[in-house]
Amino acid sequence: MTVNELIRLADEARKRAYSPYSRFAVGAALLTGDGRVFCGCNIESASFSPTCCAERVAIFKAVSEGERNFSAIAVSGGEADGEPLPRCYPCGVCRQVLAEFCGEDMKIYFSDGTETTLGALLPFGFSLEKEKE
Ligand code: THU
Repeated sequence: MTVNELIRLADEARKRAYSPYSRFAVGAALLTGDGRVFCGCNIESASFSPTCCAERVAIFKAVSEGERNFSAIAVSGGEADGEPLPRCYPCGVCRQVLAEFCGEDMKIYFSDGTETTLGALLPFGFSLEKEKE
């Protein structure tokens, strides 16, 4: 699985977004340590708060299938009828959920081919272990 393939899968997942309220469509492709890919799209609700982001759909799908070892995630987001933005950053909640299962070196790839790490996006994430230090 190349980075470009992972980004393409995130773009494909974005097309499956259910986002009639925000009209903002997001797709995510989560790569496991052994090369499997779990995709997700954002799924909105008329009562708004049950809405789930693409990244969390992907990670919950993977964890619920017994997978907890991840190496990278590609995220693609933008106006539902338009092209993906060059970079769509995971929201704070998704960063915290990623931190539950991924280390600081977890790679995050964007539609423009650039990358960052979870540690760069969530430098002081909450963890019970750290709070006890
Ligand atoms: N959204 C995601 O899917 N991922 C993010 O990291 C940010 C926001 C979704 C949630 C909502 O359906 C829409 O984008 C607008 O906020």
